[in-house]
Amino acid sequence: MELKTVDSFDFEGKRALIRVDFNVPLDKQFNITDDSRIRGALPTIRKVLNDGGSVVLMSHLGRPLKKLKEDGTVDTEKFSLRHTVKHISELLGVEVQFADDCIGEEAFVASAALQSGQVLLLENLRFYKEEEKGDASFAEKLSKHGDAYVNDAFGTAHRAHASTTIVANYFDAAHKMFGYLMAAEIKNADKVILETRKPFTAILGGAKVSDKILIMENLIGKADHIIIGGGMAYTFFKAQGYYIGSSLVEDERLDTAKEVLAMAKAKGCKIHLPMDSVIADKFAADATTTNCESVGIPSGWMGLDIGAKAIADFREVIRKSKTILWNGPMGVFEMEKFQKGTIAIAKAVAEATKLGAFSLVGGGDSVAAVHQFGLADQVSYVSTGGGALLEYFEGKELPGIKAISG
Ligand code: 3PG
Ligand code: MG
Repeated sequence: MELKTVDSFDFEGKRALIRVDFNVPLDKQFNITDDSRIRGALPTIRKVLNDGGSVVLMSHLGRPLKKLKEDGTVDTEKFSLRHTVKHISELLGVEVQFADDCIGEEAFVASAALQSGQVLLLENLRFYKEEEKGDASFAEKLSKHGDAYVNDAFGTAHRAHASTTIVANYFDAAHKMFGYLMAAEIKNADKVILETRKPFTAILGGAKVSDKILIMENLIGKADHIIIGGGMAYTFFKAQGYYIGSSLVEDERLDTAKEVLAMAKAKGCKIHLPMDSVIADKFAADATTTNCESVGIPSGWMGLDIGAKAIADFREVIRKSKTILWNGPMGVFEMEKFQKGTIAIAKAVAEATKLGAFSLVGGGDSVAAVHQFGLADQVSYVSTGGGALLEYFEGKELPGIKAISG
């Protein structure tokens, strides 16, 4: 899908209201630990400023209304976008202004006073319950901040919220468009799913089958190979009658796992499960570990990473692929003892890319892995989306895209 971008509009003397996804991870001192989403939005912001326009940025940060303080009030310190102002200013080379309340009077005074070249960031949209509810009057208020609406928040494109979808109703077709990040995300996702070069391998990991069931169902029939790692692999082993010790399992998903295997077989999609596992006597960084076949994990032990044979097997498949989609780690990546599988997969994806494959990596842990091992520039595209990317590959229409494209 070709998206209409900010290239279609001359922002000279105009205010662009840009929905970005600056839901970035912060450490305890409120330092940004991964600024990819901010960097990803810079080209769009720069285009508006270079045209001679001004910018009002709006975003959410975390889930403040679902994580109230003990006294039941909103934690306006922890979830404040104020923490990001300095870093955005440094990256942009423009002193970014900040408005404490996204629809407060001061915010409207500030956005109305913006001069060409100036940038204003609004406080966390999710301090208002109206944001997630998709409230029309809240969206209409937000719309007053800009002459044109730009959606560049790919990471939040799967949410039908006020700022991501409803606000678009208050702009005519000529005055709403996508940012470059949104366009790039869709273009690269479409390279995987619409312009697929074969063989196509999807690598899916993570803890739960239930999170990945819809994407698996959609990819079977499109992918030649689906590699399954991480905790969810053990539900597949148990579904086939094997002993998995105390490995993670979703007992209520055993039938689903069987159905996936049957469906893949019928459609000629090869499912690869890890032949062997790194097993541990407890879920802890200092656990005692050993290696064993995944089809017979002794009781009291749990699989926490894919083993050496699985790595070799998966690597073989990945190296021969021409299109690769990777979402989800192969093991308990946050503990050093169980990182090997994920690192090896990251390296294999980089190798295949060097051999000419198109590779797209998306989702928290797999993206963290390629960054941590310095491989981010050796894959074709690193997505800023987690849930949004998954839903796109589940074949769903993203509300944030539909609101503008129709
Ligand atoms: C994300 O990080 O998943 C996006 O920013 C959307 O956030 P949400 O999952 O809280 O809606
Ligand atoms: Mg999410």
